[in-house]
Amino acid sequence: MISKNIFRVTNLSQIYEGKEVLSIPELSINLGEKIALIGSSGAGKSTLLGILSGTIDTYKGDIYIQNLPMKVCVSQNKFHKKVGIIRQHFDLVGELSVINNVLAGLLGEWGFFKSLFSLFIPQEKKKALSALTRVGLNHKLYRKTSTLSGGEQQRVALARILVQNPEVILADEPVASLDPKRAEDILKLLVKLVDEENETLITSLHSVEYAKKYFTRIIALKDGEIFFDLKPREITEEILSSLYSFKEMG
Ligand SMILES: Nc1ncnc2c1ncn2[C@@H]1O[C@H](COP(=O)(O)OP(=O)(O)OP(=O)(O)O)[C@@H](O)[C@H]1O
Ligand SMILES: [Mg+2]
Repeated sequence: MISKNIFRVTNLSQIYEGKEVLSIPELSINLGEKIALIGSSGAGKSTLLGILSGTIDTYKGDIYIQNLPMKVCVSQNKFHKKVGIIRQHFDLVGELSVINNVLAGLLGEWGFFKSLFSLFIPQEKKKALSALTRVGLNHKLYRKTSTLSGGEQQRVALARILVQNPEVILADEPVASLDPKRAEDILKLLVKLVDEENETLITSLHSVEYAKKYFTRIIALKDGEIFFDLKPREITEEILSSLYSFKEMG
């Protein structure tokens, strides 16, 4: 039976230097949801995404990916097929051509030698070409990636995720380093691609406006805890101002 649930988290806790920076008793995320994580700087957004993406493994608690414990999923090499990650600084290799950066999305599936070989003769070129067409960059296949603009590089990162074809995409402030116009274009494109594939998206964002406009569920973190978990239309000015208010001293 295929579960609707993509992530199930219980009793999650992350401690840094003796301080609990994340504490989530329970959280379930279903397939097809588009989730924006919001909250002030230091609230725990990157920590949560880091844990879900397998980058941080010092947490306590249980995480299941489609009912499989995360650690089992990673050890059975299933993680890469299910979870795609977009990092703020794209993680592209500037010296390589656009197509080779896109094909890096398949590295988890390929053996080492096939991966290495692909640096010389792009394999599965069709897959990469179709992904690059979907992000509007098919004319720049063999361009050196470092010569592209920031927005174009972010689209290469999206194409790389497309060839990976994961069930869920995790992105930590994917548009933070772009100007507002480009940021909205990339976000729109990301959401469109996720919708087309009926994938799940979890992304941290600093813009509440974009969170409300493009996402189906907004989870706000405050001091490492879930402050609210609401649909965009349920969010009021009052709740936002208490989310971003400073903790009273004393
Ligand atoms: N490697 C680390 N070592 C020690 N403390 C850390 C580490 N990573 C994060 N923290 C602390 O954990 C808390 C949560 O940080 P996190 O990066 O998750 O916040 P955030 O919500 O992503 O903030 P921002 O909006 O600024 O990106 C902060 O107090 C931060 O200082
Ligand atoms: Mg962060």
